[in-house]
Amino acid sequence: MKEPIFPNDEREDPWIVVQVSADEHWNAYHDIRRAVLFEARGLIGYDANHPDDRRDGHFPLLLLLENTPVGAARLDLTGDETAWVRTVAISEECQGKGYGRMLMTGLEKFASQHGVERLLVNAARDAVGFYGALGWTVVEAGGENPVLTKELRTGPEW
Ligand SMILES: CC(C)(COP(=O)(O)OP(=O)(O)OC[C@H]1O[C@@H](n2cnc3c(N)ncnc32)[C@H](O)[C@@H]1OP(=O)(O)O)[C@@H](O)C(=O)NCCC(=O)NCCS
Repeated sequence: MKEPIFPNDEREDPWIVVQVSADEHWNAYHDIRRAVLFEARGLIGYDANHPDDRRDGHFPLLLLLENTPVGAARLDLTGDETAWVRTVAISEECQGKGYGRMLMTGLEKFASQHGVERLLVNAARDAVGFYGALGWTVVEAGGENPVLTKELRTGPEW
């Protein structure tokens, strides 16, 4: 099955965000999240069979740079115009090079095309600055994972 790709179908960009469906992309999606969100934080127990990754309205996404997976995230639609961004991760050796911004650009485009007008995220404390740089604003500063939001652009060109 052909995987939907963003931001375009012409592959003019060196990077694309794909909706995960091929086995090799599922493997890369889990490898990146396991390494970045668990192993690098000293956590164990990553579950590659977690049902949340396969639920209706949940979209695992992968950032490919020249066909090499470098980042992963999941977009969870809520049923209205809002969606939650989950488990954003860029491979450790690729961090700080603008790939997180690329991943979120593709994710936003994907979300807009699914009728999403407002994104929400439970951010890791040390990632709040990343979302701030991308135009997100804090709506709940307290707690271990501050909640941030971003209104998406709408319109035919987007
Ligand atoms: C957070 C993460 C996704 C950012 O991806 P990245 O590829 O390193 O970020 P980029 O290089 O695209 O940075 C984009 C912008 O955000 C800024 N930024 C990135 N990480 C930041 C941080 N931790 N704090 C403050 N600003 C940050 C960059 O300076 C850059 O700003 P600029 O474009 O104005 O110069 C990545 O570092 C990562 O996977 N971290 C570990 C897991 C994690 O914390 N995930 C988030 C869970 S909510």
